[in-house]
Amino acid sequence: MMRSWAMWPLLVLLFWPLHPSPRKPVPAPLPPPPTVQEGARLYHRACLSCHGPRGNGEAFVLMPNGQAAPRLDQLQGTAKTVPHLMQVIGEGRGLMPAWRTVMTPREIQSLALYVASLNPASPAWHGWAGHPRHSTPASFR
Ligand code: HEC
Repeated sequence: MMRSWAMWPLLVLLFWPLHPSPRKPVPAPLPPPPTVQEGARLYHRACLSCHGPRGNGEAFVLMPNGQAAPRLDQLQGTAKTVPHLMQVIGEGRGLMPAWRTVMTPREIQSLALYVASLNPASPAWHGWAGHPRHSTPASFR
């Protein structure tokens, strides 16, 4: 009798590896999508000094050549499209540095969405003090 009781711990140990693990593998969370809101936050940190708080060229600093950075709220044609903005912001232009050295591709896309929304011609325009919307109209993509 005593011997069969003593078998129990051994049986448990033997079958323990077959016991289903209570912890299920958690899938990695998806990275957050680029948003106008994130673009606005980044703009006010990295771009405002040169392009102005409203993106209209009211710069706080001038370029070494005494010129102000161009306004970003009246870009025309392809200059106002998100893919083009991503290219210019990422690679830099003239006296503007290449932001891809300090920003992730998603952050650059958010910035492009925000700059596109600065244009009053944009149906996504939110005004400089408004609440940016998520959508980007087809003509700005
Ligand atoms: C050091 C000042 C400076 C900062 C900071 C800066 N820019 Fe610029 N940016 C410039 C200058 C100068 C130009 C014009 C370059 C040229 O055409 O020679 C420019 C051009 C641009 C253009 C192209 C406009 C056009 O005419 O097509 C975009 C878009 C732009 N900047 C976006 C940004 C964004 C977004 C940020 C923040 C991540 C930023 N800039 C930060 C100085 C700056």
